[in-house]
Amino acid sequence: MQTIRFLMVGLGNLGRRLCEVVDEKDTLLRKKFGLALHLVGAADSRGVAYDPNGLNPAHVAALKKKGGTIADYTGVGRRDWDAKTLVAEAEADVLLEASPVNLDQGAEPALTCIRIALERGMHVVTPNKGPLVLAYRELHALAEANGVALRFDGTVSGGLPAINIGQRDMRGAVIRRLEAVPNLSTGYVMDLVTDGLAWEEALEKGRQSGALEGDGSWDLEGWDAAAKLVILANATLDFPAQMADVALTGVVGIDSEELRAARMRGERYRLLAQAARNDDGTYDLTVAPTPMTEDHPLGRLGRKQMGIVFYTDIYGTITAIIDEPNPIPSASTMLRDLLDIYA
Ligand SMILES: NC(=O)c1ccc[n+]([C@@H]2O[C@H](COP(=O)([O-])OP(=O)(O)OC[C@H]3O[C@@H](n4cnc5c(N)ncnc54)[C@H](OP(=O)(O)O)[C@@H]3O)[C@@H](O)[C@H]2O)c1
Repeated sequence: MQTIRFLMVGLGNLGRRLCEVVDEKDTLLRKKFGLALHLVGAADSRGVAYDPNGLNPAHVAALKKKGGTIADYTGVGRRDWDAKTLVAEAEADVLLEASPVNLDQGAEPALTCIRIALERGMHVVTPNKGPLVLAYRELHALAEANGVALRFDGTVSGGLPAINIGQRDMRGAVIRRLEAVPNLSTGYVMDLVTDGLAWEEALEKGRQSGALEGDGSWDLEGWDAAAKLVILANATLDFPAQMADVALTGVVGIDSEELRAARMRGERYRLLAQAARNDDGTYDLTVAPTPMTEDHPLGRLGRKQMGIVFYTDIYGTITAIIDEPNPIPSASTMLRDLLDIYA
């Protein structure tokens, strides 16, 4: 049995659910893979808990579900440490980083936590786009220099293994074109407006249902999709893109009459992220609301579905779609990444 000591930074929708999944899968992981996952440290915005003998992941999940802080974990919770201190001081094999994207704050504290973990020889798994968008090459170089893995399958399209498929199954191919509907929120809001809601009503409903983060501008202005396209470009197209390379049009301001007219034509608007290869091997990257016909695989996506299409020279055209009714698939990408490292 191999024991893997892991740290969890961020205990929200994803972090606390990953704790539930680890608890639920404990027996299977031991039996099938010979792996015992030990949560030894965890951090939220108010403090940390660290116990080299292991925290109880089910208890951590329950504490967070009730709205508490990990700093209140009996005996080992503390408010005088933050996430960075935990990663710098704790003895662990892997960091799972699931704090907010925070691109406007330099992707902190995630970026620093990931740098520290890699420098200390820990593997890193993260569904957080922020650090990858700002420092894709730097973090990969740091991981390589320290002989550890950096995995981030959850950064694009929730639980859809878009990065994994692109990195593993497209080897040897030229990807001529890539199309993705990489989030749920923008399609959801546009569908509500198409149904007849005013924009403000649709936004309010999106916020109340949790489909939109914060005031929703990150998603609706297209930044979320652009960030995911940048990561896809770096990871699967070997194209060192940055946010400034994406020609970006969000869904804000799109004409509601046009949305309804599209439905009458049998089309459905989705915020489409695309990469189109040029003859010199570079790619044109765009994010824009796009009317999709029913005969396009991404034109049939339901409200809880995201998808990606790879158009390749030798492997044909490959489409992957996920139905994601709750955040468990997104959270579970961290387990998938862990298994890729260890199993
Ligand atoms: N939700 C999804 O479906 C989804 C899908 C794919 C990827 N992601 C990405 O995964 C990450 C986590 O998403 P989420 O939905 O779980 O977010 P969330 O529900 O907002 O949770 C964020 C967690 O991070 C903690 N946190 C905030 N600031 C912190 C700090 N300075 N130090 C330590 N912890 C801090 C929060 O603490 P408190 O508990 O104290 O507030 C909370 O536990 C994000 O980067 C997101 O983009 C999310």
